[in-house]
Amino acid sequence: MSEPARDLILRAVGLDRSFGGIHAIDDVTLEVPRGSLHAVIGPNGSGKTTLFNLITGHTRPHAGRVEFDGHDITGMSYSKVARRGLAKSYQITTVFPLLTVFENVRIAAQAAAHSYVFWRPADGIKAVVRHTEEVLERTGLADERHTIASNLSHGDQRRLDLAIALATSPRLLLLDEPTAGMSPADTAATIELVRELNRDLTVLMIEHKMDVILSIADTITVLHQGSTLFEGTPDEVKSHPEVQEVYLTGSL
Ligand SMILES: Nc1ncnc2c1ncn2[C@@H]1O[C@H](COP(=O)(O)OP(=O)(O)OP(=O)(O)O)[C@@H](O)[C@H]1O
Ligand SMILES: [Mg+2]
Repeated sequence: MSEPARDLILRAVGLDRSFGGIHAIDDVTLEVPRGSLHAVIGPNGSGKTTLFNLITGHTRPHAGRVEFDGHDITGMSYSKVARRGLAKSYQITTVFPLLTVFENVRIAAQAAAHSYVFWRPADGIKAVVRHTEEVLERTGLADERHTIASNLSHGDQRRLDLAIALATSPRLLLLDEPTAGMSPADTAATIELVRELNRDLTVLMIEHKMDVILSIADTITVLHQGSTLFEGTPDEVKSHPEVQEVYLTGSL
């Protein structure tokens, strides 16, 4: 009996991208089942961010194909991809620094709400404000709603990044090192939040902290020099000799 087809929200096949002489992504295939929490790990410069940029339309692949929810989105711009329900939180913070937390999230919610039709403009505004409030609650930023973004702690700025991505009501959320530079306490809180978000959306995340990834991911793809070195469950990754060599002994 053949296996039933997996319900994939994302399927990237044979992706390839060079920058000058650097082969940043070399024939990478990535399949992400709906509802899962999939992690991409790998040493510095192994191609993780480039892979994300190829998926989100920030960088064009030289070869390969990206399917989101069964549709070919290869080469589509990020704004088009985002409208289809794919959101990305950046490794580099992209908030408006002089606006409040509330305004930052509301602007993102408003941009995404263009696709809805309301009978009266006031209903549209109310819906956007309601959605903004929900996102602030969910991300633990409700108490900081009036704070100017640039005055937030580093941890809260990263949380705001996440809130901005969430405000677009995505079905797939891409996170590029959401705990980068965070204290252990903020890291733990962010991981709890990601776990919570994963209850109703699919998460694809890049993360450097091995302990974090091993504790939350369903599947881990290990990139090394632009190629997939290994893919498996946290237990499989932990016990894989080559991964251990790349990571645990730090020999590469
Ligand atoms: N726009 C670009 N122009 C030139 N080279 C690039 C560009 N983007 C990425 N690269 C190169 O491609 C390779 C992969 O980079 P990438 O940023 O994808 O790695 P990464 O795994 O995300 O690294 P890190 O862990 O440091 O974030 C690196 O050698 C990098 O210098
Ligand atoms: Mg990166």
